[in-house]
Amino acid sequence: MKIAVLPGDGIGTEIVAEAIKVLDALALPFEMESALVGGAAYEAHGHPLPESTLKLAKEADAILFGAVGDWKYDKLDRPLRPEQAILGLRKHLGLFANFRPAICHAPLVGASSLKPELVAGLDILIIRELTGDIYFGQPRGRRTAADGLFPGTEEAFDTMRYSRPEIERIARVAFEAARKRGKKVTSVDKANVLETFQFWKDVVTEVHQDYQDVALEHMYVDNAAMQLVKQPKAFDVIVTGNMFGDILSDEASMLTGSIGMLPSASLNDRKQGLYEPSHGSAPDIAGKGVANPLATILSAAMMLRYSLNQEQAAQRIESAVQQVLAQGLRTPDIYSDGTTKVGTAQMGDAVVKALG
Ligand code: IPM
Ligand code: MG
Repeated sequence: MKIAVLPGDGIGTEIVAEAIKVLDALALPFEMESALVGGAAYEAHGHPLPESTLKLAKEADAILFGAVGDWKYDKLDRPLRPEQAILGLRKHLGLFANFRPAICHAPLVGASSLKPELVAGLDILIIRELTGDIYFGQPRGRRTAADGLFPGTEEAFDTMRYSRPEIERIARVAFEAARKRGKKVTSVDKANVLETFQFWKDVVTEVHQDYQDVALEHMYVDNAAMQLVKQPKAFDVIVTGNMFGDILSDEASMLTGSIGMLPSASLNDRKQGLYEPSHGSAPDIAGKGVANPLATILSAAMMLRYSLNQEQAAQRIESAVQQVLAQGLRTPDIYSDGTTKVGTAQMGDAVVKALG
C-alpha cells in the first residue's frame, strides 16, 4: 500500500505531520512518500502541481493532502496559483465523489455557533460532486461584451454544466451511502432558475427508481443554506453539485464546532482517494503551532477505511480522537472555559497516546 503525502502550504505541513505521527503509530505496512504541492511546489519548481507530484499521486493507492494557498500568490496567473494543484489532482485522478461528514462530537456541542439542542447528535454526510459544474466548465474567461446590458465593455464568464453520466454516478454514490445510514437523500439544486440544475433534479429522480428503499427529497440551495442552521438534524445525506457543495460544506462545518474538525475523502471509481481536511491553509496562523490537526487525523482514518481497507485501524483513530476530546484537550479553535488549551503537536501526541 502506497500513500502519497502532499502537505502543501500554510498550516498544511503542521497538520499533516501530526496525521503521519498517528499513521506511524499504527505500524501498518504502508509506504509513504512526500512531495511538494501548491505554493511550496511553485516556489521550488515553478508550478503548483509539478509532473513528479502528479505522477506520485497517480501511482499511490491514496493521497494524504494538507492544504494549499496563500494570499501572496493571488496576483499570479490563474494556472500558477496554488489552488490549481488541488483542482488538477481532482481532475487528473477523476476524484468525482467528495465525502464531507459533519459530525458534532458530544464534547464539542458547546463549541458550535448554534444552540446545543440543535446540534447534539448531529451526523450529516455531504456528498459533493467534485469534477464538474462551473468549476471546470468551458468556455470561461474575459472578453469584450458583444451584447448584454453594456455591449462593448469588458466582461467575465464561466460555464455551468453537467452531463447525464456525471449526475448519475454521483447520485448512485449518494443513494448507496444513504442505504448504510439514515436512508434519506436531500438533493440540493437551483432548478427554479438554472437549466443545469433542473437537469440535475430530473436525473437524480430517475436514478432514485433503483433505490426505492431510500427517501429522496429535493431542496433549493438557498433553502438548504437556511435549513442547515434551522434544523440541521433533519438532514441525513446531502448530494449536490461542485459549487453548492463547496459553500454548504463550509456552512455545515460550523455546526460541528470548528472547520478544524471536518475531514474529507475524494474518491474515483477505483476507490483511489485523496484525503484532506475540509479547511484551507490558514496562512494567518501558519507556523504558530496552534492549528487543529484533528480534521487531518480524521481524514487519515477515512483513508484507511475507503482506500486501504483497514476498517479496524480507522476506528482506532476515530475512538482515539473521541478520547482526547473527552479528556478536555482543545486547540484554540474549539477551546472553551473549563477545557485545556493545547497546540498542534500536543494534540497529535495525545491522539497517538490514546491509540493505546
Ligand atoms: C475546498 C476548497 C477548494 C474548492 C479551493 C481551495 C479550490 O475551498 O476544497 O472546499 O473550492 O473546492
Ligand atoms: Mg471550500
